[in-house]
Amino acid sequence: MIRPATISDVPRIQEIINSHAELGRMLFKSYAQLYEDLRDFGVYEENGRVLGCCAVTIIWADLAEVRSLAVEQAQRGKGIGRKLVEWSVDEARRLGIPRLMSLTYEQAFFEKLGFSVVPKETLPLKVWSDCVRCPKRDGCDEIAMVRLLPEVVASDQPPAPPTPRGVSIPVLDHVFE
Ligand SMILES: CC(C)(COP(=O)(O)OP(=O)(O)OC[C@H]1O[C@@H](n2cnc3c(N)ncnc32)[C@H](O)[C@@H]1OP(=O)(O)O)[C@@H](O)C(=O)NCCC(=O)NCCS
Repeated sequence: MIRPATISDVPRIQEIINSHAELGRMLFKSYAQLYEDLRDFGVYEENGRVLGCCAVTIIWADLAEVRSLAVEQAQRGKGIGRKLVEWSVDEARRLGIPRLMSLTYEQAFFEKLGFSVVPKETLPLKVWSDCVRCPKRDGCDEIAMVRLLPEVVASDQPPAPPTPRGVSIPVLDHVFE
């Protein structure tokens, strides 16, 4: 089952994420970062043991991001990642957010779940706000992917400021060159 994460899950979430980070598949997370973002997290639990995690972060009225998706190494390929992404989709629906995005190396996995590759520069400026603390900010090789949720009625709110061209944003500099 997937349930909202609680404080007692933090060590286990960190263990799963950092085991993949050591292999360069995702970014390391500190306890401080996990405490700060914990309300975004869901965990997949089986027989009392957490086997995977995923966070949904609100970027704007019309966009949420799937972050920190990770399944314990030995449990990969059993459908847990799919369930966690579907949980993120349900969360976006519940919140009334009609687009879900991911920055990922797992293009084929996300394609199976209805996401499509989009040019990074089409995402709003706010998406890049966390990149300042990313060690890969000067050479970001992640792929931007989006899934539209057409069943969600978009809220009538101001659009997000776009990513400006001609302004140095390290994570995008190679795109704009
Ligand atoms: C990516 C990850 C979350 C996938 O989770 P998982 O539980 O292994 O995936 P699932 O078993 O739910 O797979 C769902 C489908 O995607 C496919 N799939 C999974 N990983 C894939 C990959 N790397 N390439 C292609 N297809 C993949 C599966 O075959 C399955 O297809 P099917 O439904 O047709 O059988 C997991 O491998 C992981 O934790 N990776 C390391 C961390 C990471 O890269 N996270 C993503 C950060 S954005």
